[in-house]
Amino acid sequence: MIYMEMKEFNKTGNKISVIGVGTWQLSDDREGNINSIRYAIDQKVNFIDTAEIYNTEDIVGEAIKGYDRGSLFIASKVWPAHFRYDDVIKACGGSLSRIGTKYLDLYQLHWPNKAIHIEETMKAMEKLVDDGKIKNIGVSNFSLEDLKEVQGAMKKYEIASNQVEYNIVTRDIEASGLFDYCRENHIAIIAYSPLSHGKIFGNKSLLNDLQRIGSRYNASPAQVALAWLLERDNTFPIPKASNAEHMKEDLKAIDIKLSKEDLDSLSKLDSKYHMESIAKQHVERSDKINSYDFKKEKTEQ
Ligand SMILES: NC(=O)c1ccc[n+]([C@@H]2O[C@H](COP(=O)([O-])OP(=O)(O)OC[C@H]3O[C@@H](n4cnc5c(N)ncnc54)[C@H](OP(=O)(O)O)[C@@H]3O)[C@@H](O)[C@H]2O)c1
Repeated sequence: MIYMEMKEFNKTGNKISVIGVGTWQLSDDREGNINSIRYAIDQKVNFIDTAEIYNTEDIVGEAIKGYDRGSLFIASKVWPAHFRYDDVIKACGGSLSRIGTKYLDLYQLHWPNKAIHIEETMKAMEKLVDDGKIKNIGVSNFSLEDLKEVQGAMKKYEIASNQVEYNIVTRDIEASGLFDYCRENHIAIIAYSPLSHGKIFGNKSLLNDLQRIGSRYNASPAQVALAWLLERDNTFPIPKASNAEHMKEDLKAIDIKLSKEDLDSLSKLDSKYHMESIAKQHVERSDKINSYDFKKEKTEQ
């Protein structure tokens, strides 16, 4: 059994597990995915992330059946094509019914959408809080500028988190000042693609570096990459693992306490191996994001 640490998520003192479970592009093995999520919950991970576009909300719903809902922290996301007021309310209803829950702990705007006034979207998000359908409002893939804009559009509540790409070799949020701004303003960073979307396993030289450091802790490359993120302030990594074996390995990262010397040398790896950002590839398609054919996208992912 892993000793699961809990960490403050927002200003109101909500605590969630320091590591969460990602559910984008799960494998076709439905049972394996469900077992993997259940394994994590049994290890006291309470934070599970999904999105209306992932086509995995029902899997999350099935996985959490039988667990105490109040002890879990379930996050989903509304796709930018649904940012008009009525569409936000409807999309949330859809997520609630697919997950089989009365409320979400965190509801996030998946990507910015410049084609719809952010005030309209945030009015709907705040209404969802008032109606008890969601407990916290978050954003995802919001730049520093986008984040300040959305904060300015809120009347009653505050942004609790920004879910962004962040891992040992993709550190754009540090360079842009987003990391510091979030820390200073108590906006949690939810680090997506913490294993670089699996790309760290495809780079032999990087893998060797991680293995070399990991050998001092009896830790795998995945565990070293996650342990580095777990040491970052205000940061909650959400690795995706389609089977319980990978999940088990990933969660054990919590027990690894890297020395200051190793943390420092790991922090320098990005200058050696900066990886093509997944978020950037999406931004290049941002025109498409604003006018997505939602049904088509759903089958593509
Ligand atoms: N907000 C956004 O726009 C956005 C974008 C991307 C991701 N996300 C969120 O972040 C989550 C995680 O990111 P991600 O799915 O892109 O990638 P990731 O967690 O960085 O990497 C997942 C990949 O690593 C593999 N893996 C996991 N643990 C492993 C281990 N111990 N050893 C070897 N391979 C291992 C997985 O394989 P298996 O599946 O075979 O276990 C999968 O191929 C997503 O699921 C989603 O919830 C959000």
